[in-house]
Amino acid sequence: MSIDMNSTNDIIGREDIDDFEAILSVVGTEDADGRHTVHSVYDTIFTWDYEKGTRPKLDKLYEKAKKAQWNGQTDLPWDTDVDQEKLIVENAMATGGFTAGVDLTGTPAEKWSEKEWIQFGVESQNWTLSQFLHGEQGALVCTAKIVESVPWIDAKYYAATQVMDEARHVEVFAKYLDDKCSGHYPINAHLQMLLDDIIADSRWDMTYLGMQIMVEGLALAAFGFMAQMTADPLLKQLLRYVMADEARHVAFGVLSLQEYYQGLNAAELRERQEFAFEAAVRMRDRFLQQEVWDRMGIDPKSIVPLIQQAPERAQFQALLFSKIVPNCRKLGLLDAADGWLRTKFTELGVIEFESWEDTGEEYDSFAAVPSADPVAS
Ligand SMILES: [Fe+2]
Ligand SMILES: [Fe+2]
Repeated sequence: MSIDMNSTNDIIGREDIDDFEAILSVVGTEDADGRHTVHSVYDTIFTWDYEKGTRPKLDKLYEKAKKAQWNGQTDLPWDTDVDQEKLIVENAMATGGFTAGVDLTGTPAEKWSEKEWIQFGVESQNWTLSQFLHGEQGALVCTAKIVESVPWIDAKYYAATQVMDEARHVEVFAKYLDDKCSGHYPINAHLQMLLDDIIADSRWDMTYLGMQIMVEGLALAAFGFMAQMTADPLLKQLLRYVMADEARHVAFGVLSLQEYYQGLNAAELRERQEFAFEAAVRMRDRFLQQEVWDRMGIDPKSIVPLIQQAPERAQFQALLFSKIVPNCRKLGLLDAADGWLRTKFTELGVIEFESWEDTGEEYDSFAAVPSADPVAS
């Protein structure tokens, strides 16, 4: 059988993964009416097989999700006083200063005083949390789509609980940004491209792969990193609650696709590999936070390539893939079609995580919510 192979350029719109000129030339456009519409044609599936527990692992996840619900308005300490600037400074001190490991000689940021660096830190946090917020809305709509399109009743049940989870996540990130931070950012263009591609795809398993495996897998790692770093007890708790949900969501993706992929041929798996690679690149591109440099009055093209050279930066970005790579491995995506995705993840510098624990089973260890099933963990 011949496999229709796309080139790197076909998949991500450039030959060189690290072509910063090309990456940073992709910029967002404001949606004038405050909305963004994605056209999507797909089958909505009814099933007449109502037998609960046909897929025991999904059923277990569904029962667990019902008990692990929390209330974003009443379960978090919203009366916490948050001094954003003070937290930014403390955080910089704890991690070796604002420019740790980066030589900015010759760039416009060379002459920045502490004041500009604090402003940068504040903008950076506003930006990061704004992208989390937009990503959460992406998860909300993707999971609603899964409820409609997945053919299995246990998966529809579980997805329905995730829709509720995601509504809560959008709610708490929006509230934290409004009440405790100092500004919003529009969605990053690379993140928007990825969400659009996920939503527009007509195949239900692609929604899972794009959202549950890739976007949520990265979110789980990114939230964990931020929860560890922040000294704000409110944000820490918010993230721990959200992570407990996200770990289930990623497990939902792994458990569903594991079964489905067994029935796919090599050409079909190759399409999934290419989609996973595209998603990985888009997410890496979005982390360059080009909009923050823009807002600080510096052309991102003049500084981002320098920042990317710092070893700490590469390590942080690689860590974001610490959930994605083992999950792709568990799904058989690394080695299908002659190991194409393994090669691509090697080029991206993230293959080292392949033997880390996958999220099909580890979600119990994320349980952070007191009302969660106490016997399960
Ligand atoms: Fe979420
Ligand atoms: Fe999620």
